[in-house]
Order: sequence, then structure tokens, then C-alpha cells
Amino acid sequence: MTSSRVPVPNPLGILLELTHRCPLHCPYCSNPLELDKRSAEIDTATVLRVLDEAAELGILHVHLSGGEPTARRDIVEITAKCASTGLYSNLITSGVGPAAALLPALAEAGLDHVQLSLQGTTAASADKVAGLKGSHEAKMKFAAEVDRLGLALTVNAVIHRGNIGEVEGFIEKAIELGARRLEVAHTQYYGWAYKNRAALMPARPEVEQSIRIVEAARERLSGKLVIDMVVPDYYALRPKACAGGWGRKFMNVSPNGRVLPCHAAESIPGLEFWNVQDHSLGDIWQNSPAFNAYRGTAWMPEPCQSCERKELDWGGCRCQALALLGDASLTDPACGKSPFHSRIEALAASEAAESAPPDYIYRGPGQTAAAREHEDVLP
Ligand code: SF4
Ligand code: FES
Repeated sequence: MTSSRVPVPNPLGILLELTHRCPLHCPYCSNPLELDKRSAEIDTATVLRVLDEAAELGILHVHLSGGEPTARRDIVEITAKCASTGLYSNLITSGVGPAAALLPALAEAGLDHVQLSLQGTTAASADKVAGLKGSHEAKMKFAAEVDRLGLALTVNAVIHRGNIGEVEGFIEKAIELGARRLEVAHTQYYGWAYKNRAALMPARPEVEQSIRIVEAARERLSGKLVIDMVVPDYYALRPKACAGGWGRKFMNVSPNGRVLPCHAAESIPGLEFWNVQDHSLGDIWQNSPAFNAYRGTAWMPEPCQSCERKELDWGGCRCQALALLGDASLTDPACGKSPFHSRIEALAASEAAESAPPDYIYRGPGQTAAAREHEDVLP
């Protein structure tokens, strides 16, 4: 791989994964297989210093994420710091646990925006995916509190075989909850989701139907609800510019302070990630070996190197090339020009064709559906 030391424009957004702790057990979780422990999380002073450095770099948006970010006791202080440094704050939350009770204090601290994940449109379907009974009801209460406080709301729905028939329902639910934006995001198969791929993979006709539903709703609801859609890579012809292009727009800080070009980058062996405890954010952005590994176009193999789209999609997703081909420096096989494209199409088709998909493997102890049923119930 080739490094580029040419200075690059500063990033636009930063995702702070404040903790990997989470009350939910979603089978499509994009967090790494090995989660950071609470004892390894960076302390409040370090998070606040990172926010100062983000503001100095000209970053506009801070996504406060996890795991469940409200599991951190300092979440109000962190939110207030975003406001005082002029950073637009977006709380990415499950809406479960302490989230609803904390909302008034977060609003008071200057929180700009809330992004709430929904796993389904009914308690039965949503709680099954989340692996937590009572979670959907808690989310509905949380959304009502967001509405009462007048905070801007985006609903995020990760789509897979188990809920692809609910796309119309997600649209109705987003309107009912007062959201102005809905993300219909087909599962991306990294982290824990890769482990559950055979259980989550929808069939191509279902995917095409979901796209038609979203396109019709966009027209019908223009001016009322914005719908963003992430289509599944395995059925695409051209890859997405993952994370806006490696090291181009985005930084991801893991709970223990490692700074990543994308949330799954740690799955790539041999990359050296710098930590905010040892380096400033600006130093990491310009000089960290991991950010420079796949930045720009010099590292690209054929067919990307001579492709007219190489500065549009930046060769697609490195983590997907690694997961499917064992080499992060190859063209993303989601691209129709990749010599391996037919392989992933065939894989998706065969998994989706299984009449009885495997059960979900949930995160955390008790990874089967039966074990979760008895272990996790919200009061
Ligand atoms: Fe993108 Fe490479 Fe495919 Fe061209 S060949 S469309 S640059 S992934
Ligand atoms: Fe890492 Fe796409 S998730 S480059």
C-alpha cells in the first residue's frame, strides 16, 4: 500500500463512539467483534479536549454514538461542550435505558439533533431483533419526549430479511413520531452483521420492492419527510464511497481513543491506529499511518486505477474487500468491474434462497433467541 503525505482538507464530521456498552443485542451491529471494556474508555477530560480540537479543525458535526452514548455519566457535560464550541451535536441512541430521563438535561445543554434507531414497527418484530423485551415500547416513550422537547428527530431503520416487509410501516412510524428524516439503511455486512449474514440477507425481489416503496414515498411526502436510503452492497453494481472516501471527510474515535478512518477499520490487519491520548486530532488526520494507508488514489489496483469513477467512490469499501476477498487493497467486490463481483452476487442469492434462515446470533452472553427471551426484559 502507498502512503500519501500531501496535506488533505480537514474533515467535516466526527463520530465519537463514547462507549461500546449497549442495552440492545442487534444481530446486525456494526461494532467490532471485540468490544472495548468500560474500564478502557477515555475519560471526560480527554473527550472534552478532543471536542476543542475538532472545533479548531473546522469540523461541523459531532455524532455522539456507541453502543448507547447515554450510558456514559458525562454525556450532558459532553453535549454542553459541543454547544459551547459551536459543534452541531447529534445523539445517536437506542432510546432505551437512561436515554429518556436524560433528554431534558441534554436539550438544556444544547443538543441539536436526535437519531433514534428502530428495529421494527411493532413490539413483537422490534423486540425480537433487538433481543430485548420492552425495548420498542421504551423507544416510543423516548420519541414522545423528543417531540415534547421540540428536538429535531431522525429515525434510523436497518433493513434485513426479518423486517424488509415493514419498509412502508417504518415510513408511517417516522411520520407518526414527528421525524423530519428517515434513514432506510439496508444492512452493511461488517462486524457482528457479517457473522449473521446468512440470517439477514434479503432476496433481490424484496430489495427491489423496498426501493420502489421508498421512491414512491419520497414523491408523496416531499416537503414533509426526507428519506435517505442505503442500498445493499451485495445487490449493487457500483460501490458506495465508504465513509465518504478513506481519510477524506470523516473520523471515528473508538471508546478507548483509537482514531479510525471508518468504524470497521480495525478489522484490517497491519494498520497502525493512533490514539487521542497520544496525538492531537489534527496530527492524526494528517499523519496517522492508518489514515494515509488508503487515502487518495495512489494505492489503487486495477480496475480502479484506470476507472473514471475513482475519485467518486474511491474504490468502495476496504473492509468489505477484506471480509470477502481477504485483501483490503483490492477493488470492492460490490463493484461490477471487480473480477470477483459475480461471487458476491451468487453468495447473496444462495443465502437469501434458504427457506429456513439460521437463528440470529445476538451480542453478549446468551447469544441464542431462547436465552435472550429469558435474560433480557425491560422493567
Ligand atoms: Fe469504483 Fe473501482 Fe469500481 Fe471504478 S472500478 S467503479 S473506482 S470500485
Ligand atoms: Fe471500512 Fe467501508 S467500513 S472502508
